[in-house]
Amino acid sequence: MSIETAERQDTAAVAPEQPMLEVKDLVVRYGRGRKAAAVPAAVDGVSFSILPGETVGLVGESGSGKSTIGKAILGLQKSAGGTIAYQGEDITHAGAAKRRALGGELRAVFQDPNSSLNPRQTVGASLAEPLRLRGVTAAEAREKSEAMLERVGLPREAVDRYPSQFSGGQRQRIAVARALICDPRLVVCDEAVSALDLSTQAQVLNLLADLRDERGLSYLFIAHDISVVQFLAQRVVVLYRGQVMESGPAAAVTEAPKHPFTQALVAASPVPRPAEQAQRRAAREALGVRTAAAVAVSPGGCPFSQRCPLATELCTSERPALRKVGASDVACHYA
Ligand SMILES: Nc1ncnc2c1ncn2[C@@H]1O[C@H](COP(=O)(O)OP(=O)(O)OP(=O)(O)O)[C@@H](O)[C@H]1O
Ligand code: SF4
Ligand SMILES: [Mg+2]
Repeated sequence: MSIETAERQDTAAVAPEQPMLEVKDLVVRYGRGRKAAAVPAAVDGVSFSILPGETVGLVGESGSGKSTIGKAILGLQKSAGGTIAYQGEDITHAGAAKRRALGGELRAVFQDPNSSLNPRQTVGASLAEPLRLRGVTAAEAREKSEAMLERVGLPREAVDRYPSQFSGGQRQRIAVARALICDPRLVVCDEAVSALDLSTQAQVLNLLADLRDERGLSYLFIAHDISVVQFLAQRVVVLYRGQVMESGPAAAVTEAPKHPFTQALVAASPVPRPAEQAQRRAAREALGVRTAAAVAVSPGGCPFSQRCPLATELCTSERPALRKVGASDVACHYA
């Protein structure tokens, strides 16, 4: 091997992989004008990226801004600041034509399958719709729909039935089929398994994992339950009131959380075994974290300071920046 070739290979080895998605300093506000300025931003300076084939889990309590981030990525909600780049291209303010063009590559699965399945349309018609929009013939769309249904574990005949003729778990499989039928690159799964019972949840999670591995998909996997996120995600981002509290490799964040809020979230996560559940409850009480309802929004400093058992004066006066702690990034003065 010549020196020149060796050098070229070295350069290739260190070249960073282009993210499938890169979100930088994203800010999203609801409402307009003075009304919008009066309420805290729903998403307040959030950054993360997703590599090709990677699953990033987004967790946080209800109202922390998870769905708002998903909507901003999908172009369903305007951003007030920051950027969203898809495969290196800035799509933050992409217009309708660009969004339409991206529609096949950037898909979503929501908690309620009825949001993507029209109850008055057969399953086949719902699945064919995104394909027909992309110029696929009716016959080809039907064949693809049947094959996709088979892939998600349903009979091919399901094309001629209506959503109401299926169970909740089966309907969610149909929603997954509809999201994946156009061969997308990135799928936003927003509480995609949260409405399902535990065993159906496990089946749909396994299906999502298999499809990801087969097709090299990237997922933004949104859930309020950190143990569900842990199953699929390679990296986890923890949100609190629109801000990132901690992010890092899934094992580090879920098994050795550094931020007091992540610790509380892990301790609050339900587990199927009663003995372990009792241990978790004791750990949660020992942390001394107050409930969200018990406190008002912090006016400044760390957004978690009014609930945090470790809070000091510094916490209420200065917002902690994200900094490296072990393998994770943590926004806490004392982590
Ligand atoms: N359409 C809307 N108009 C005004 N405020 C909204 C709207 N949608 C969400 N919000 C507010 O924005 C914040 C974030 O909401 P979001 O739905 O993103 O939270 P979430 O983390 O997805 O919660 P959940 O776990 O309950 O789904 C909340 O304070 C919510 O009240
Ligand atoms: S910065 Fe202070 S209030 Fe915020 S999480 Fe850390 S210790 Fe708690
Ligand atoms: Mg939500």
